[in-house]
Amino acid sequence: MMDRDVDMGAEAIVTYGQYMDRPAVIKTRPRKGYRHPELDQNLRTHRTKNEARTMREARMAGVRTPVIYDVDHHEGVIVMEHMVGRKVRDIIDENGSDTEEVCRRIGEAIAKLHNARICHGDLTTSNMIFTDTGELCIIDFSLGSIKCDVEEMGVDIRLLERAFTSAHSKSSVAFDTIIGSYRENMDRSKEVLNRVEVIKNRARYT
Ligand SMILES: Nc1ncnc2c1ncn2[C@@H]1O[C@H](COP(=O)(O)OP(=O)(O)OP(=O)(O)O)[C@@H](O)[C@H]1O
Ligand SMILES: [Mg+2]
Repeated sequence: MMDRDVDMGAEAIVTYGQYMDRPAVIKTRPRKGYRHPELDQNLRTHRTKNEARTMREARMAGVRTPVIYDVDHHEGVIVMEHMVGRKVRDIIDENGSDTEEVCRRIGEAIAKLHNARICHGDLTTSNMIFTDTGELCIIDFSLGSIKCDVEEMGVDIRLLERAFTSAHSKSSVAFDTIIGSYRENMDRSKEVLNRVEVIKNRARYT
């Protein structure tokens, strides 16, 4: 494996390399010295397992996610397909001719996840890649959950909305397009979107 570049997140370290001659991303959760060693091991194992499992479930629900090549629970490593493309965050910032299409695809993808009762847990435009072959790929399922309820789905949508009001302050049209396609494709969208309003009101009065 050869490292080319490093992308540092809060918890995980992402490096780019190869797996069996295929371009791969190696996502590692390193040990954190400030945590109790046993707790640290449990957390890293748990998050790695959860991420790999939720990513697989999402794929089975018809959402494009990176193919997993290898997982090492103990070391906290996931080796996966390197999705070559553009970050959705940049596409929405540029607001070019493909933005509307990408937004519709985001709504569809979230609808598929929620129809299968999968929540992502960290829906931001940094966790989506629009590949050079025209696929909308969702990544970073480390906070994902399965068998989730309407409340969790509402939180997913609310998080995305907040990402739009902070990161993409001029893109309310883009968010509306996402919600429009979510409505069309998600069976219980009414219930979820009502819950989003409840969540917002709750935040307002507490
Ligand atoms: N499979 C992949 N293909 C292409 N790029 C990727 C892939 N996985 C991750 N990246 C890149 O690395 C960045 C960070 O990865 P990711 O979002 O999975 O982790 P994180 O947000 O740093 O970690 P955490 O799991 O702690 O939330 C992504 O925003 C993306 O740019
Ligand atoms: Mg991320």
